Amino acid sequence: MKIDWPPLRAAAVAVAGRAYAPYSRLRVGAAGLTGDGQVVVGCNVENASFGVTLCAECGLVSALHATPPRSPDLGSAGSGAGTRPRLVAVAVVAGDGDPLLPCGRCRQLLLEAGGPALLVDTAGGPVPLAELLPAAFGGADLSARRDSGAAAPS
Ligand code: THU
Repeated sequence: MKIDWPPLRAAAVAVAGRAYAPYSRLRVGAAGLTGDGQVVVGCNVENASFGVTLCAECGLVSALHATPPRSPDLGSAGSGAGTRPRLVAVAVVAGDGDPLLPCGRCRQLLLEAGGPALLVDTAGGPVPLAELLPAAFGGADLSARRDSGAAAPS
């Protein structure tokens, strides 16, 4: 799939302008392209209780899950509540308009939303997420390593 990066970057810059960042004064905007051609966005939202802060990528991933697929067969995955779009490309920028590398927690979030091949824009150009989060922990580790017995808390 050919990624049209300029409009994706522009969407990230636009949503950075919607950020609520009165404490750090670092605005962040994130825009993602789904496999079925939709653009989803998120901005950081801070709180007087600093640990409650939401990164822009959190909003982006929430928007991804809230977005119905355009076509059930195209660029989607999942079951149960229905197929859901997957990310194929992400641009994250600060308020100055330049790329901002996602924090570690957000790399982990993005991994589950797009997989290791997800393209993430950087100052040096797009790179696969696997380069930013090598040897990642994922859902397969859970199924392979969890206790086999019932897991009722005591
Ligand atoms: N921030 C993001 O939105 N995404 C990141 O990947 C790194 C940090 C935000 C959180 C906080 O509002 C501000 O940047 C300063 O850490």
